[in-house]
Amino acid sequence: MRLEDLKKELAKASKVFVLTDEQVAGFWLPELKHALDINGAVEIVLEPGESNKDLNSAMRVWDTLHQFHADRGAILVNFGGGMVTDLGGFAASTYLRGIRFVNVPTTLLAMVDASIGGKNGINLESVKNQIGTFAEPMDVFVNPVYLSTLEDRELLSGLAEMLKYGYIVDPNLLKVNTSNYEQYLLQAGRIKKEIVEQDYHEQGLRKVLNFGHTFGHAIEGFTLSKGDPLTHGESVAIGMWCAMRVSVELCGLRQEVLLDYEPKLQMLLAKAGFAFTEDDVKAILPYLDDDKKRHGGQGRFVLLKDIAQPRYDQAVPKNLVEQALVEVARIIS
Ligand SMILES: NC(=O)c1ccc[n+]([C@@H]2O[C@H](COP(=O)([O-])OP(=O)(O)OC[C@H]3O[C@@H](n4cnc5c(N)ncnc54)[C@H](O)[C@@H]3O)[C@@H](O)[C@H]2O)c1
Repeated sequence: MRLEDLKKELAKASKVFVLTDEQVAGFWLPELKHALDINGAVEIVLEPGESNKDLNSAMRVWDTLHQFHADRGAILVNFGGGMVTDLGGFAASTYLRGIRFVNVPTTLLAMVDASIGGKNGINLESVKNQIGTFAEPMDVFVNPVYLSTLEDRELLSGLAEMLKYGYIVDPNLLKVNTSNYEQYLLQAGRIKKEIVEQDYHEQGLRKVLNFGHTFGHAIEGFTLSKGDPLTHGESVAIGMWCAMRVSVELCGLRQEVLLDYEPKLQMLLAKAGFAFTEDDVKAILPYLDDDKKRHGGQGRFVLLKDIAQPRYDQAVPKNLVEQALVEVARIIS
């Protein structure tokens, strides 16, 4: 939607709400309200961080919508990173069985991934995205200017998802780095959009977007439970190494693809200050079992036969899963 059209829709809404977090609000909320011409919008400002993508925050959104008499004509503007767009999409799509929402992503990761595709959700304890909905935002408004205040660590988190598109779809994106990412922004968003359009409810092809995520979500959930979470992108970056390691064994992926990825992994983790031990691997494994249960006991690893040749729904023997985690723990320590 063009900005002018979005502003017209917002002007027609019975009420406009803006959901954001404290950090984004501090930098950009007045600018956003001005840009979208929504100065009278009701603000809902959450504490930042993945640990707030939970039921308490969803309750806060629902309570505020209720308190200000939001009806089906109301619009919720989700202004922030993936934490805000996932949570806000979930809260909007369940309130009154669904009110409209707009995503205005402010992190690289949310611009190229989280804000697109209609998957919304919250975490249950430290299990990622356990509760959620499929519901499309009425619009996604991307303005790269917001990236100017993003910390390096968060930029790297977004780069991980962009590299993922390089491995599963377009090798051009393997060139992405901290100084050239803006030139690949559009292409990355387009890849996500095109895959989602072909398989909205993730019955097949869309699963390739989970490359690195089965391992990644388990690692992210584990670090979340310890109170010192890795970013989503850092977790996925480690997960991609594990998935490639297993792919060498099971799909004949060339070893050199894995070796070429190692410096990229080190770059993506440069700000993480993170290491895990072989004992931690034992604690991560149950998170992978949670994931498996969620999918009817089916293995749902995405592996690579080669670059841009992903294979989804792959079962992986437990010993190979464990071995990949032990090896990656050594590499990043
Ligand atoms: N729905 C999907 O398809 C999908 C896809 C990928 C990831 N996700 C989800 O996205 C979430 C991760 O999103 P994220 O990486 O954007 O994290 P985030 O939303 O937690 O943001 C990271 C940090 O950056 C800060 N921030 C955001 N924008 C800023 C800006 N412009 N300037 C300065 N600081 C800013 C935030 O306050 C926060 O502290 C995870 O919950 C993940 O599960 C969802």
